[in-house]
Order: sequence, then structure tokens, then C-alpha cells
Amino acid sequence: MPEPVLRVSDDIAAAAAEDIAGWLAEDVAARGVASLVLSGGGTPLALYRVMAAPPFAGRIPWSETHIFWGDERLVPPEDPDSNYRAAWEALLRRVPIPPANIHRMRGELAPEAAAADYTRQLRNWTAAHDPQTPDGWPRFSVVLLGLGEDGHTASLFPGSPEEAQEPVIAVTADYQGRPANRITLTPAIINRGRRVAFLVSGAGKAAAVFDTFKTPDPARFPAQRIRPEGAGPVWYLDPPAAQRLGRV
Ligand code: 6PG
Repeated sequence: MPEPVLRVSDDIAAAAAEDIAGWLAEDVAARGVASLVLSGGGTPLALYRVMAAPPFAGRIPWSETHIFWGDERLVPPEDPDSNYRAAWEALLRRVPIPPANIHRMRGELAPEAAAADYTRQLRNWTAAHDPQTPDGWPRFSVVLLGLGEDGHTASLFPGSPEEAQEPVIAVTADYQGRPANRITLTPAIINRGRRVAFLVSGAGKAAAVFDTFKTPDPARFPAQRIRPEGAGPVWYLDPPAAQRLGRV
């Protein structure tokens, strides 16, 4: 597996936006379409705001870029806990992206129905935009991920089953009082992503970053299950989050 790439900086939003804009433009130039998987929680909001403003708002090919989510809390889209709502407010309502390019996880549905619905959305999207893909699942241009203080990523939590072959599963999780019922993309589909980027900030994540890099145990540290088939994951870390990795 290709080695992860560490990018430590005080402004991980700007660093990530620079790379993401380039990756999306590359895929649109090569394939006529690009696909970006957004992560939830609070860390990426600064990135979304940077992407919604000059210069990135003008550099990202919004008409040809399709938006997906890595996970979603099973709440209605207008709920304050919805990852869709957070991304809509910080980014999507501020850029000229066609509504048909936004592929929302339908958090208003029951868990299994929401997982089945998104699985269908992924298949239909691939048939329409990437029919050459042999097995009919997307190879996303960019997959954004966060990291919880317990080492989870997307909604892949410590102790959760590792062998899910389905692209989307329903999970029940309990993290910092956030909604327990969720759906999440699985490593089976995340690892097909052409570029995978983790955004992690704050001293509270330093232990989870250290263990993810230094304590081999994918059951306890699910971010270790993210082993992209192509380029290694890029980790955008601010100095507090990276502090236990030593010299990087
Ligand atoms: C979610 C996210 C989750 C998040 C981590 C980190 O739905 O909550 O997808 O995986 O990335 O929990 O969250 P923070 O960025 O808020 O620390």
C-alpha cells in the first residue's frame, strides 16, 4: 500500500482546498466529470467555507463536479445535526453547482432503507457517469474524511465489523452525544477513491492520530482500514493534532 502523505500546517483548510481544486480539475479534464465525497463533523467546515470563496470558488469546475457524503446522521436534512445541512450552509448554497450534482444521503429514512437508497444512488450515478467501471461502483475523485478522538472515521467506529463488502451500511454509534443512527460508506468503496484526504485538527485528536499511525490495530483504529488502491491517503494535520508524531 502506498505510504500516507503528511501535510502539517497551521491552515489545513487552505492546504486541502489547493489540492482538492487541482484534483477535481484534473478529473474533469480527463473524464469530463469529478466526484467529491464530503465528510461530516466540525473540522471540514473551515475547508468548505474556503472552497465557497475566491479564489477556489472560481477554480473548482462546479458544473461537472458531483457531491456525495461519506456518512450521515439519520436525521432530516433540515436538522442541525445533518451533515448535508452543514455542507449546504457552508458551501453548496454559495457555489453554482447544479442541484442534480448533489447526491444527498436521505437521513429522513429508516436505517436500512437509507443504506439501500444510497447504494442505488451510487449504482445509478456510475451507470450514467462512469459506465466503463467494471463492477458498477464509483471511483470517487476525492474522498474527504475526518478522525474522531476515539479513532473513528466516517461512521466506522472502533469494534465495528471490518469485512463489510457492501458500499453503504447502517450503523448505530455513540460518539460525543451525536446522533446514534447513521449510514456510512465502507472501506470497500472508500478505498477505490483516486485520492483520499483526512483533515484533522486540534490537540484533542493527537492521541488518535498517534495510534492510527503507530498502533497497528484496525479493529480499534478504523482509519487504518482506509488503504486506498491508488495514491496513499493525504493527512492534513495542524501542529496540535500532529504533536505526538514527532518530527514530520
Ligand atoms: C460525522 C463525521 C465523523 C467526523 C469525526 C470528527 O458524521 O460526525 O463524519 O466521522 O469526521 O467525528 O468530527 P469533528 O471534525 O467534529 O471532530
